[in-house]
Amino acid sequence: MCGIVGYIGNSKASPILINGLLKLEYRGYDSAGIATIENNNISVLKNKGRVKEIQNMKEINYLESNIGIAHTRWATHGKPSRENAHPHLDNSKTFAVVHNGIIENHEELTTFLKNAGYNFLSETDTEVIPNLIHYYYSKEENNSKDRFVNAVRKAILDLKGSYAIEVLSSLESDRIIVARKDSPLVIGINGDEKYIASDIPAILEYTNNIYILNDGDLVEITNKAMTFYDENFKIIEKTPELITWDAKAADKNGYEDFMLKEIYEQPTSIRETIGTRLRPNEKCDFSEINISKEYLSGISRIYIVACGTAMYAGLASKAIFERLTSIPVEVDISSEFRYREPLIDENTLIIFISQSGETADTIAALKNAKAHGSKTIAVSNVIGSSITREADFTVYTHAGPEIAVASTKAYTSQITVLALLALHFAEILGSNEKELINNLKNEILELPSKASIVLENTELLKAFAKIIYNEKDLFFIGRGTDYAVSLEASLKLKEISYIHSEAYQSGELKHGPIALIEDDVTVVGFITDRRLVDKSVSNLQEVITRGAKTLLITNQDVSQDVFPNIVNIPKVNHLLSPILSVIPLQLLAYYVSKEKGLDVDKPRNLAKSVTVE
Ligand code: AGP
Repeated sequence: MCGIVGYIGNSKASPILINGLLKLEYRGYDSAGIATIENNNISVLKNKGRVKEIQNMKEINYLESNIGIAHTRWATHGKPSRENAHPHLDNSKTFAVVHNGIIENHEELTTFLKNAGYNFLSETDTEVIPNLIHYYYSKEENNSKDRFVNAVRKAILDLKGSYAIEVLSSLESDRIIVARKDSPLVIGINGDEKYIASDIPAILEYTNNIYILNDGDLVEITNKAMTFYDENFKIIEKTPELITWDAKAADKNGYEDFMLKEIYEQPTSIRETIGTRLRPNEKCDFSEINISKEYLSGISRIYIVACGTAMYAGLASKAIFERLTSIPVEVDISSEFRYREPLIDENTLIIFISQSGETADTIAALKNAKAHGSKTIAVSNVIGSSITREADFTVYTHAGPEIAVASTKAYTSQITVLALLALHFAEILGSNEKELINNLKNEILELPSKASIVLENTELLKAFAKIIYNEKDLFFIGRGTDYAVSLEASLKLKEISYIHSEAYQSGELKHGPIALIEDDVTVVGFITDRRLVDKSVSNLQEVITRGAKTLLITNQDVSQDVFPNIVNIPKVNHLLSPILSVIPLQLLAYYVSKEKGLDVDKPRNLAKSVTVE
């Protein structure tokens, strides 16, 4: 989705702005642009297409200014075009604005401004903002020192919807004003240098000291100072957070694609996520949440709510929560949960999972849950992200920045942290399943090294990708947690290889989908639950009998005579197996996408974080 970068300091702004936009390319976009102030005039370079096109414009060489704003746009209102690309100017070309989010009342504001004599050049909802700022600026006292900031404040009070904005003025060329509501924005600081971004990775190579803005915050930034205002326009003090992500983590580090790098980072991301929460022979340590035995014993249900891969991580974790706590768990999709009037109250604990922490539907579902009095836990990978600020408690995955649109290391870290949370709950409740709890803890500590073993075994997957990359339909089947991982495997393949696939519970095949199995259809099976080996093998044999070719991911003893394509993964309890069994399928999706010559990291139509409904 859209990305924002800004800079004010002592260096030339344009290379920093372009560099930041390149770092945000992973979010998905269709046009890009920058604005700087040159000789008291605003210069705008923007176009449809990639950031490279702006970078290659000869005009960029003439931009000398050390202040500027920049944007990558993912079209919502109006097609991708130069006119609709940001930055947008007001009619007098005095104010330039970049905007993430959606202005819901833009039609009403457009009518108001047209009646006041303003014209509109684009089809966007954003163009009302610079014109509104101009409207209020012209009504402020001429020599008021706060004229610019007051005008921006008045303009944003008129906006309904979500926004993160940066504003430049040619009349006050020493400052940038930024504001946010329901769309992320951060400011990094390094001495006199200030870096603004919608996402931390865009500015991480310049600084680790980052101010994370809250909803309603407005900030006036000059070379020498920053003035923070809260939602009531009261001046507030803010302290930066020290972000411990390494800037190199946001680079490809020798890998051909971010996705491949992130797949191979999983031993580390799982280990980091376990961190100090689990030590041999000790109880799980979740000092970040404060949940009592009294509260847990009283809850009637746990919900896990999320979108996409994060939701599938919830599905893969349902069994371990139910097995260890005996509390029923329901897993739901955020966009459904928020509108279906779920039966929740103060006796419901709701876990919201979001890698980015900025997914609009998940944030809305979380606000809805709180309004019903439910206790909420956010599971996120991004420090200070919106869901972490809304929820009662936050549990971070420590996967490091995930850049590829297709989520990989976030998924395995999410299941890891949820498994630890389930164990923690069992310990709070005083579960008498001591042996199972100890075994699971030992198995969790072994996951990083077992993930490394899975990553060494790639030959069959590469060869299989060459066989199937031109296919139109695939099936993934499994039972229990193997079904949960089938769903994620199917999503991964769809996202980056554009092959249609379906995931089914193995036992459901006979109830309909087996009618689709014919010669040479590919069926990928997962078998990691020792109690269900025979039944699962029979289901796969049924598709082989009907002509299907199979790929089997298993840690059980299954005959190679029946299944010629077997990827063996290390043994692990089926309650944890998705953390390992998904890895071969992440790799298969990756290799298929490469065979097809597709852009693995930036699949068509998709964005890394979905900040609109
Ligand atoms: C995963 O590969 C996806 N691109 C997508 O389904 C993603 O998991 C979903 O949009 C949720 O994102 P979040 O975790 O940042 O909330």
